[in-house]
Formats: sequence, C-alpha cells, structure tokens
Amino acid sequence: TLIYFITPTYPRREQIAELTRLGQTLMHVSRLYWIVADDRPDCSLQIMNLLPDFSIPYTYIASPMPSIYKHNPNAMPRGVSNRRAALNWIRLNHNINDSNAVIYFGDDDNTFHLDLFKEIRTTKKISMFPVGLVGEYGVSSPIIDKGKVVGFFDSWPAKRKFPVDMAGFAINVQLLFKYPYATMPYKAGFEEDRFLSALAIRLDEIEPKAENCTRILVWHTQTAKKPKPIVMVRSKATLPGSLATLLD
Ligand code: UGA
Ligand code: MN
Repeated sequence: TLIYFITPTYPRREQIAELTRLGQTLMHVSRLYWIVADDRPDCSLQIMNLLPDFSIPYTYIASPMPSIYKHNPNAMPRGVSNRRAALNWIRLNHNINDSNAVIYFGDDDNTFHLDLFKEIRTTKKISMFPVGLVGEYGVSSPIIDKGKVVGFFDSWPAKRKFPVDMAGFAINVQLLFKYPYATMPYKAGFEEDRFLSALAIRLDEIEPKAENCTRILVWHTQTAKKPKPIVMVRSKATLPGSLATLLD
C-alpha cells in the first residue's frame, strides 16, 4: 500500500528548514509519495532544487490561498487551498480501481515517529490516533472503549462531530472516489470536521491505531518565528565573497 503524504507549506524564512527536516524523516519511509503544496502563485526554484535531495517520489504544486481569505489573519484557513490542490491531484492521477493507497495530511512543521507510517498504511477506510502538543490539554485523541471509538478528547470541541486534529487521521484513497465532490472547507477550525463529514464517516467505522490510541506518534510542533535579521548596513558588494550569496 502506498501512502500519499500531503504537506501544505508556505513561504517564510523557516520554510526550507522545515521541508529539509520533514524530507529527511520521509526518506526513511518506503512506498511513500510526497505531495508538497505551496501557498504561493508560482513554484519556488529553491524548493524545486531541494526536493530531489530526498530521493523520494514527489509532486510539487503551487496552490495559493485565494486572497479573499486573507483579510482576517485570525481566521485564515491555513493550508486549505494546498490540501484541496493535493486532493485534486490524487483524484486526477491515482488509478480509481486501486484501493491500495492511504492519504495523510502532514503539515511541514509537525514531528512524525516512523511507527506512524506502519500504523496508517493499513487504513481500510478511516483510521484515527492521538496527536501530541495540541491545544490546552496537550493532546487530542479519540477515546477508545473495547477497541471502538466512543468519543473524543480535545480542548476545543466547538460542537464538532469530529473534534480531531489534521494530523490525527488517515483515509483510504477509495473514499475520495466514492465521494468525488467531498472537499475541505475554507473555514478555520472546521476543516477536519467538515471534511470528515463530507466523507460520511461514522463513529463505529473508525479504526483506532497506535495501540488503541495509547501512543503518541505525531506531534503538533510549532517553530518559533525568528526576528528578521538586522538590515545590513554595508552594501552587498562590499561583503566578503561567499556571504553575499548566503544573505540573498
Ligand atoms: C493551527 C491549529 O492548531 C490547527 O489545528 C489548524 O489546523 C491550523 O492552525 C489551521 O489554521 O488550520 P498551526 O500549527 O498554528 O495550527 O498552523 P500552521 O502550521 O501555521 O499551518 C498549518 C499548515 O498550513 C502548515 O503546513 C503550513 O505550512 C500551512 N500554511 C500556513 C499555509 O499553507 N499558508 C499559510 O498562510 C499558513
Ligand atoms: Mn503547525
């Protein structure tokens, strides 16, 4: 079974560092196809040069967020245009008759234990598992009783049917073809819930992973933003050789 690993990413000073670290995790995973969807109007040359370094099959997509969603920075649907583009790519490129593929959303700043990939690879329909470092409770997880999902532990329920993190579930590719119009909404906070509802997921069919949801194999880590470096007082032409390119 193939894993489609969908990574939304966006231009900022940390982007190359994040993608390098993630790419070097994914290098250890066999039968993985990496879809890197970038929130910018055109593909970046620097990232096009970076991605082949990891020797894994990948597709690099430019998938900018429509500007109408950028007006309220507190309610920006982050990574949605990216994930939509990746889902479209799979619908167009995956063989509809081949159900041996699983889809997972892996943000560029999260941290992944290699065991996660063994767990999600066997997803028949939908699987779920705990995510560490989410919200005020520090973890978001399905609650399991006798091997079945009976509820959710999440610090922001918000009347969601599926109060889960983007990194806390995987789906079999066949669901995308069964529900060809199912998509992710441009609604901050409700992306997971609305997407899973569009796939008509029922609680009793969720496959708990990670030893019945007792292990954390993925963390919602966040990279601290470094302040912008102080503007160079010297003109670039006067910098010693190699520094001029580094600071470009
Ligand atoms: C927070 C919440 O904790 C998540 O549950 C929620 O899904 C997410 O925001 C969201 O807004 O949807 P956080 O870690 O702060 O998560 O979000 P980011 O990591 O900044 O963004 C999520 C993904 O979208 C990342 O892969 C990031 O690269 C991408 N992104 C972010 C964009 O493509 N464009 C942006 O402008 C910002
Ligand atoms: Mn994040």
